Amino acid sequence: MSEQLGSLARTHTCGALRAEHVGVQSVLLGWVHRVRDLGALLFLDVRDRHGITQVIVEGDEALLERAKRLRSEFVVAILGEVERRAPETVNLNVPTGEVEVRAREIRVLNEAKTPPFSIAEDQNVSEETRLRYRYLDLRRPTLQKNIGLRHRITMALRKYFDEQGFYEIETPILTKSTPEGARDFLVPSRVHPGEFYALPQSPQIFKQILMIAGFDRYVQIARCFRDEALRADRQLEFTQVDLEMAFATPALVFEIVEGALAACFREIGVEVKRPFRRMPYAEAMAKYGSDKPDLRFGLEIQDFRAIFEQSPFGIFREAIEHGGTVRGFVIPGAAAYSRRELDQLVDQAKALGAGGLIYARHTADGVQVSAKAIGEAGARAALDAAGATRDDLLLLASGAPDAASKMLGQLRLQVAKQANLVPEGAWELLWITDFPLFDWNADEKRWDSVNHPFTAPREEDLARLESDPGSVLAKAYDVILNGWELGGGSIRIHDRDTQATVFRLLGLSDEDAKNRFGFFLESLEYGTPPHGGLALGLDRICALLSGETSIREVIPFPKTTQAVDLMCDAPSAVDPRQLRELSIRINT
Ligand code: AMO
Repeated sequence: MSEQLGSLARTHTCGALRAEHVGVQSVLLGWVHRVRDLGALLFLDVRDRHGITQVIVEGDEALLERAKRLRSEFVVAILGEVERRAPETVNLNVPTGEVEVRAREIRVLNEAKTPPFSIAEDQNVSEETRLRYRYLDLRRPTLQKNIGLRHRITMALRKYFDEQGFYEIETPILTKSTPEGARDFLVPSRVHPGEFYALPQSPQIFKQILMIAGFDRYVQIARCFRDEALRADRQLEFTQVDLEMAFATPALVFEIVEGALAACFREIGVEVKRPFRRMPYAEAMAKYGSDKPDLRFGLEIQDFRAIFEQSPFGIFREAIEHGGTVRGFVIPGAAAYSRRELDQLVDQAKALGAGGLIYARHTADGVQVSAKAIGEAGARAALDAAGATRDDLLLLASGAPDAASKMLGQLRLQVAKQANLVPEGAWELLWITDFPLFDWNADEKRWDSVNHPFTAPREEDLARLESDPGSVLAKAYDVILNGWELGGGSIRIHDRDTQATVFRLLGLSDEDAKNRFGFFLESLEYGTPPHGGLALGLDRICALLSGETSIREVIPFPKTTQAVDLMCDAPSAVDPRQLRELSIRINT
């Protein structure tokens, strides 16, 4: 039986009481976190989102009897006096750890079933159970902290953008497809049978139209929807901090975005170094095999083509003869790896698609290399070129330059983890610039946008847009943190003809372009200012700044990697009547 709250008002949160409150009468409202029953004495930890306060029940038999019936997660009101704790029970690890509340009255406002997992202990609970009972999972202090930080980061961003003269403007959720490279979520129209809205993959077209409409500086904390495979850093619906500026130069976008990220970092007490480092895409791909390099550790990929051009080792020599190369990186201090560790590295490389992996190192009797044919001189030349010391291990692989770097880039990430080379608490922010505008889609025999179709080519490349699209670089930039892409953006095309040319290169017939983007092409003709912007992934920022490895830990109600909401069981079948109303028949 639960009791009434009545007119009882909270005097303090469970995180508020300090030594200065000793002697004060307090009313705490919260959940029973833990009960420690010592017979004649009982300790009760009461929790709310602000913290945990220790309550002591002693001396009053009836009250003690009542307290003994309390279980974890009961909702209680505690009335009592704040006291200093006995010295041996002071806990300086919690902010309320110097005091306790001596209970005079305990009201049970609601009872609770035994939860399927403990809120108080960090147990190893399956993610499935956590998501099924997300309301309990969210009570755990870690998630309370993460959601709190997310709130503070969101507020800091809103304040920052307001100070910079941005308007926060909402754009539609029921709209037309925006191409960001994923599948659309479609919503059938009841009023127009057989027609569909698309949920926005991003507000891209609308924010550009807002620039045409004269809104100058726009920002939106925008929900986006993409039907793509889910991963640790991807959800079907996620939140962007989406911004756009009229008359923007890349320098202005960098400055504004760096300021926004600095404001986020201040929420965890970190002052980031500005300006962020910048690296052209081509350099990132060659040195790190990735367009989102993790710069918290070295293991830089180097090219050894010059050394192996004439190599007696056929695999390397022939790869180079066929336009490929030999690339590799040094693992510092790994010369002493055992045979088993070395075999494991080779297996990892093969699992990543490499034909093989060669290693070389200095030993007490000279130089050792796993492919004898390379010979001692060749191996020594490579070790010297790589700057490897006697303690280091050099890994080498051959292949097409991009493919070799990509494979080594993935191996680099695995090795850094295995060899503990990732320093705790390091933050490495950088810009990747000079992306290619297009990628050749060999299956469909057409060009794809690397970014999205609204990205402007560099002025110096404009003349080659139609004659040599593959060589055109974009005015596009991504911002990277510790190997995660935090955001991406660009300066946009602002004249109709260039935009129409790009649509054509992407394989859109004039007819398709008109059907899909006609309204946008038309809007470009009515005085479009040069403009540009970017979108940051809010979930990713919050995950990294919370020290989490998945965005699911900073989203209150995420979907599983199977794209399911386990708590409310979505997606689910709908009433046949609803389908009839929408003129839809299910065909499976
Ligand atoms: P882009 O597609 O790069 O650019 O998205 C911008 C940022 O949004 C985040 N993000 C995601 N986060 C979680 N789950 C997902 N499925 C997901 N997809 C993207 C990433 C990414 O860097 N309209 C352009 C931006 C622009 O050009 O201004 C856009 O959407 O952090």
